[in-house]
Amino acid sequence: MKTYFVTGGAGFIGSAFVKQVLDRKPDATIVNYDALTYAGNLANLEDVDSDRHQFIRGDICDRAAVMAAMPEGCDAVFNFAAESHVDRSIESADEFLRTNVIGTQVLIDAARTKGVRRFVQVSTDEVMGSLADDTNDYFTEDSLLQPNSPYAASKAAAEFVVRAARETHGVDAVITRCGNNYGPRQFPEKLIPLMIANAFNDEPLPVYGDGRNVRDWIYVGDHCAGIWAAFERGIDGKAYNIGARNEQFNIDVVTSILDALGKPHSLIKYVTDRPGHDRRYAIDPTLAETELGWKPMVTWEDGLRSTIDWYLNNSDWVNNVRNGEYQEYYAKMYGGR
Ligand code: NAD
Ligand code: TYD
Repeated sequence: MKTYFVTGGAGFIGSAFVKQVLDRKPDATIVNYDALTYAGNLANLEDVDSDRHQFIRGDICDRAAVMAAMPEGCDAVFNFAAESHVDRSIESADEFLRTNVIGTQVLIDAARTKGVRRFVQVSTDEVMGSLADDTNDYFTEDSLLQPNSPYAASKAAAEFVVRAARETHGVDAVITRCGNNYGPRQFPEKLIPLMIANAFNDEPLPVYGDGRNVRDWIYVGDHCAGIWAAFERGIDGKAYNIGARNEQFNIDVVTSILDALGKPHSLIKYVTDRPGHDRRYAIDPTLAETELGWKPMVTWEDGLRSTIDWYLNNSDWVNNVRNGEYQEYYAKMYGGR
């Protein structure tokens, strides 16, 4: 048996990763360590094979708790745990720096003590900043790290923490940088699930600025397969860009959702732009395709349709997370906009 320590495995991508690994790797056992913040949800793990999955509630910044939970000599740490929403980081960056930076250092220290074979840091294309929208530029592994939001800055800092641990202490580490994920169980603060939920309830769809910002969307299962490929076949010390060559204007994503639900475009409401709003993300995934033998499997059309269907068929999940705390968040973020 192989043992993996996964942090943030009750969140959107972490829970998809845990399920994919347990499904595809019969010799895998996972210790899933998650603080269950507002974004962590045990309902995301309801259908997990429990014999090979152990859930431990804990904070990655809590050194003693991490040391107690991380198995001695485990095969890998996959670090998904993070504060992940740009808009929240604009309101307050404290928790982003604490979890994303300090937490990564604590995990690295524990991994060294426990003799972990490989450290996999799940990062984001946002560390590379913004591309101009009138060019054919793409993010590559040689792009500079020039983050623009407090979230992206904290993820870039985490990458440097991992890099320093490798250079200084010889920690075996790979980094993945993925574009915008979509799929089931994404918290409805992010664009796609927020728009699906609002459209379903005939509420306004708040589009920031001119709606012409570009994001490079990938189905969550394809991202998870890319992370696994980087763990298995990635070269120590390298970063891999994970992307599906699927650039979309925000306004086109929003109208596709309205059309799929048979709702009128008059629900669209242009609102004040996000400060420091990155214009365009676009990933060149050539290195992951050639060196890792990875490629995305789910088309945008199929992925978006099945994601919308999942939200329509799981109204209990949606209603549970759109609770009192969510209503407060929504009023604060969108009330005066
Ligand atoms: P998410 O917000 O849905 O989940 C984050 C999880 O981390 C939650 O379960 C939460 O409880 C947990 N967590 C937060 N703080 C913690 C702490 N201090 N200790 C332990 N657990 C803690 O995020 P996601 O969208 O699933 O993203 C997962 C990872 O992937 C993040 O590192 C994010 O930066 C990265 N990423 C996300 C995207 C995307 O489009 N969502 C794209 C590229 C990379
Ligand atoms: P988001 O899902 O927050 O991801 P990120 O900022 O990490 O790319 O936002 C995706 C895009 O959608 C981004 O350009 C901001 C925009 N957006 C809106 O126009 N309205 C919204 O209510 C949200 C949440 C995002």
